[in-house]
Formats: sequence, C-alpha cells, structure tokens
Amino acid sequence: MDITSTSGPLAEIDADWLIVGYGAVDATDSLTAPLSELDLALDGSLARLVASGDLTGKLAATHLLADVPGLAAGRLLLVGLGNTARLTSRDLEKALVSATRRASKSAEVSAAIALPELGSESIGDTDAAALAAVALEVGCVGQALYHSEPSRHGFSAGAVHSPADRAAESVARGGVLGQAINLTRELVNRGAMEVYPETFADRAAAAATEFGLECDVLDENRLAEERMGSLLAVARGSVRPPRVVVLKHNGAGEGAPALAIVGKGVTFDSGGLSLKTSEGMKTMKCDMAGAATMLGAMTAIARLEVPVNVIGLAGLVENMPDADAFKLGDVLTARNGTTIEVLNTDAEGRLVLADVLAYAVDLGAERLIDLATLTGACVVALGEEITGTFSNCEDWSQEVAAAAQQAGELAWPMPMHDLFGDLIKSDVADIKNVGPRWGGAVTAAKFLERFVDSTPWVHLDIAGPSFASSNKPHREGGGTGCMVRTLVAAAESLV
Ligand code: BES
Ligand code: MN
Ligand code: ZN
Repeated sequence: MDITSTSGPLAEIDADWLIVGYGAVDATDSLTAPLSELDLALDGSLARLVASGDLTGKLAATHLLADVPGLAAGRLLLVGLGNTARLTSRDLEKALVSATRRASKSAEVSAAIALPELGSESIGDTDAAALAAVALEVGCVGQALYHSEPSRHGFSAGAVHSPADRAAESVARGGVLGQAINLTRELVNRGAMEVYPETFADRAAAAATEFGLECDVLDENRLAEERMGSLLAVARGSVRPPRVVVLKHNGAGEGAPALAIVGKGVTFDSGGLSLKTSEGMKTMKCDMAGAATMLGAMTAIARLEVPVNVIGLAGLVENMPDADAFKLGDVLTARNGTTIEVLNTDAEGRLVLADVLAYAVDLGAERLIDLATLTGACVVALGEEITGTFSNCEDWSQEVAAAAQQAGELAWPMPMHDLFGDLIKSDVADIKNVGPRWGGAVTAAKFLERFVDSTPWVHLDIAGPSFASSNKPHREGGGTGCMVRTLVAAAESLV
C-alpha cells in the first residue's frame, strides 16, 4: 500500500475512512482539538455526543459516524486514546489497530489516520506517526488467508495526518516496518502443507531479490559438508529436506557482520518420535516464527538502508516421526564438535539452532541474536505476551532490552546461572538435549550457549508472543510479527 503524509484541515481529507484519534473528554469540558475542529464542520454534533456521554475517548473505544456531509471523507471513525499524556506506544498501537481492523472489512477502500499532538512522556509525535503507518498495514491483514470469501481487505491507499516534524520520513519508516511484520505474519499463518523448508527458502530468496539482500541457500548436501549433524538429525524424520538460508545486508560495506540474527525455522513440529498430543500440535505450524521474524526484520533493515553489516540465518527443518527419524538415545555430533545425547525428539529447536549459531560464529559475527519458539516453559514463566531474553553478555543484553523498549515490545531477562548448565550434563555424551521439567526455558538457553563461543549473544524465546490464540478487536489472532521492530532497532543501535 502507498501511505502518504498529509496536512491541512481534517474536513478536507479525502478518504473512504477518516480515523481520528482523540484524548479522553469529560461531558462537562469544552471541546479541544481535534474534536473542536471536526465539530465546526459537523454542526455541533460532536459536542452533543460528548455531552451525552457517547464520546469519552476511552482507550481503543471506536465510534463510527457514517454520514458526514461536512467532511470530504466518507466515514469518520473516532478512536479514543485515553489520557494522552500517559499514552504508551503499546496503547496507541492497540487503539489504532482496533480502528484499522474495523475499517478493513470492505474491499477497495482508502483510509487516513489523523493524530493530535499527544504531549506524551513515553511516545513522541514522530514515533506516533510511524505507528499510524504500521497500523494501516497491519490492521487490514488477517489470518483468514484461506477464506473463500475474503473477510478483510488491504486498503487501496493510506494517509497519515500528524503534527510531527518530518512526519513523511516516519510514515515511510512505519510503512516498511508494517510490511515486514506482515511478511512474518503471513509465513507463520500459512499451513505447513505450503510452508516447508524448500518453499520458505524460495520465499526468502524472492524477498532478497526484491529488497537487495544477498542470499545463499544451503541444501542437505551442503549442510552435510558443513558438518551440521545436529540439524540434519532432526530433518531425518521428514520427507521434506532441510535448508539453511543465509541473508546478507552489507550496510557498512565490506567487513565482518556486526550482527547475526538466527531464527528457528521448524516448519512443523510434530514432536518427532516423542510425538506431541493433537492439542499440543494444533498450532505447530508456528514453529518457524523465529525464522520468519528474522526474514521480516532483514527486509526492513535492507529497505531502511541501516548502515551496519547484518546477516540473517534460518535453520529450516520439519520435525516428523517417519521411519528414518532420529531416536532417543542417539548421539549427534554438532558442527562445533559437541556431542549431544538425544533424550526427547521434541526438544528439536535447540538441535537446529546449535548448528546454525555455530555457523554464524564461524561467519565472523560480532554479536548474535537468536529467535525461537523454543519452550512451553517460557510461556509458563512469562505468559503469552512477553518475550524471554537469555544472554551470556550483560551489555549486549541491555542493548537488546533498550531496543525492545524503543520498539514498544515487551521482553524480560531470565537467569542464566551455571547450575542450569549442570542439568544438561549427560552420562554418555557432552550434553543431553533435555533437562528436568523445572526451569525448562533456562536449560534450553544453557544448551544454546554451548554453541556461541564467547560471542555476545541474546536468545529470545518467543513461544508465547509470536502466535496469538484468538482474534481480539485490537489484534488479529495467529502470527503477530512480534520482535521484528526490536530486531531493526537492535541493528540500528550498532550504527
Ligand atoms: N516448539 C516447541 C515449543 C513451543 C511450545 C512453542 C508451545 C510454541 C508453543 C518446542 O520444540 C518443544 O516442543 N519444546 C518442548 C521442550 C521439552 C520437550 C523439553 C516443550 O516446551 O514442551
Ligand atoms: Mn518440539
Ligand atoms: Zn519446536
């Protein structure tokens, strides 16, 4: 979608839907902007709605006025922003996505979002303008990819009316981020019958061509040459051959990558021979969300021309229990020589990441971030909305936390004491791929730590926030595209 930045009177904005954000109002107050401005064009009807208590400005509450002769726009959708002085970017996103979701139910419509001066301590008007563009992109795309009658429609055009200086620049940035988030969401939302290692790699290669990334796809022969015995073992139970995708953004010219982003790309996790229950397997098309997040973020990093060298890697396998599947008691040798006793084939994500992390280290990455739908234990610990962070380096961990904060995404640090590493010692190999039940998110992270050498590394366990179980007015269920913006901010922090 083409999203422009506009200015001038609200009454003259020509769009099928004009979405106007406004702060909390009291029935006894006189109107302030933007309601006061609109009220003039609407012959006092907004003042009456405020007086009758129908317009309150409660956060994310929407009010539709469909027949508005005083406006160039076809429909006016008012959306409450609550107390704007205390508005956070998450609140604003909730409000604006509620509005764009509501406006996207008919085909071929254009939408404009107008924001007032917020005076917020936590989000500036410039970032708010970017967020409006994100909401225009994200709110009109849903998970109903296979409805024979589409229930949601991309806007034919978008516009943002913002009081910010240099609004056009942030609107363009928001559009890029929104499209990156949608790419991630789409890959997560498509079923494993069409998204499997080879097709994911094809899609990554196409995106690389479109946005100017270098792309290298390693097939099973190449993976064997690269000694990725741990990843290859997981792939053995599936008829779908594995792939590793390597994307390069050379934003700072020649030289080592300042950052490698590594994503878990298990395109379907049946559990393998340690088979999941139907209930546990139901959403396991989402187990490649880490890889999809990496891909979304790399497209944005390229399009925003971030002046940093960044590589993105996806470890792509399908975890299935076919006749040649790897077995409990098997001992695998990973790329870095570490031997691994397999005691649960459902703890496959760490086996895939082990080799890809070691490969990223060998490519000379100065810093690492990996993303993975790695453990149910992390969801137990932090719930469905917060990403768990695990690290071997306090400074890098804090930089990534700051990037998440700036991006308006929720992340929380988890402990990495050595005692958790002791829990994955094996009697027959260097380590085993599963520890006891308690502390399962941390033992998984301690496992990964064995493959990153001394490179500063942050592991993001996105098992909770990357996939939403139900549709809500303010966000669609399915893939969420969480952490795409955090990754972009983390890359930008290295400039
Ligand atoms: N892909 C799952 C983790 C997961 C669970 C992601 C729920 C999203 C939602 C992972 O491969 C897995 O199966 N983990 C096991 C680890 C266990 C066998 C040590 C788990 O969490 O139960
Ligand atoms: Mn699993
Ligand atoms: Zn998995």
